[in-house]
Amino acid sequence: MTYSKIIGTGSYLPAKALTNYDLEKMVDTSHDWIVTRSGIVERHFAADNELTSDLALQASRRAIEAAGIKADEIDLIIVATTSPDMPFPSTACILQDKLGIRNGGAAFDMQAVCGGFVFALNTADLYIKGGQAKTVLVVGAEVLSRMLDWNDRTTCVLFGDGAGAVVLRASDKPGIVASKLHSDGQHRNMLKADPKVSMDGKAVFKFAVTVLSEVVEEVLEEQKMAGTDIDWLVPHQANIRIIEATAKKLGLGMDNVVVTVANHGNTSAASIPLALDTAVRDGRIKAGQNILLEAVGGGFTWGAVLIKW
Ligand code: UT7
Repeated sequence: MTYSKIIGTGSYLPAKALTNYDLEKMVDTSHDWIVTRSGIVERHFAADNELTSDLALQASRRAIEAAGIKADEIDLIIVATTSPDMPFPSTACILQDKLGIRNGGAAFDMQAVCGGFVFALNTADLYIKGGQAKTVLVVGAEVLSRMLDWNDRTTCVLFGDGAGAVVLRASDKPGIVASKLHSDGQHRNMLKADPKVSMDGKAVFKFAVTVLSEVVEEVLEEQKMAGTDIDWLVPHQANIRIIEATAKKLGLGMDNVVVTVANHGNTSAASIPLALDTAVRDGRIKAGQNILLEAVGGGFTWGAVLIKW
């Protein structure tokens, strides 16, 4: 049986960091409100000349280096983003060029908002299992700061820019063992960018906790596993209270959850690979462990991926 194994991770946050105290000077808000309601302490914003593909490039270089491969070995690139450089070409094609890849491998973007990284990872896994790709670069990269409505304090304090990447390779040893994805377009107005971000925060909160618990259960049940078999939950980093509620439903203590939301806010498709890379590099995630990724986002889209590391 062929599996997709993550052989390298990387991430990148733009240099410019804005603390909650910085935001207090820009909008009618407070550090205490933001921390208590969301767990966010600071977020990073791309420089004026920095595009999503530039953030993706930095994260990808780090993942490729960690994987110990040459960029040219990558035969598929999937960039999960809701803030592409431009309507077309895809950010994935731009990234392919910036990485100097000239092997004719495929590259495309995936649009599932905050669910994007798990959608992209599942897609990459299917390409590998189907024999159509051997070495895949999956990136979550966002410059959401350009979509924020600075007159809406209920949303502008929550989001940030960043990128994370993983290199997947076909392997006969377990890697990705299960994935479940869902969408329900009926809820499309609960969270959208038209063209600026707007959200019914309370409704999103309730919906998120419900569907995340359901999809995580679905994956665990299929694998005949319990929540307590998970070594690390690596959730989409939108809000500490959603993360805590999901962990609790799983029967997991926060000691088994990777939380980075304080450092970068909600970076949409980039948040899971940012958290994953942090926990891989600081040694928390180790070979043989069960890692569960989960995310929910606008669309609505949601999903979970279970990995034997
Ligand atoms: O990837 C998925 C993306 N989204 C999410 O995960 C977000 C899900 N939702 C949430 O995280 C929460 O609903 C929020 C963090 C957005 C809001 O937290 P909440 O506890 O639901 O607060 P609320 O919307 O009920 O607002 C409470 C109060 C209101 O004042 P009143 O009406 O009680 O006087 C708001 O006007 O907080 C006020 N408020 C603020 N105060 C200071 C709203 N935004 C702010 C702000 N600073 N930035």
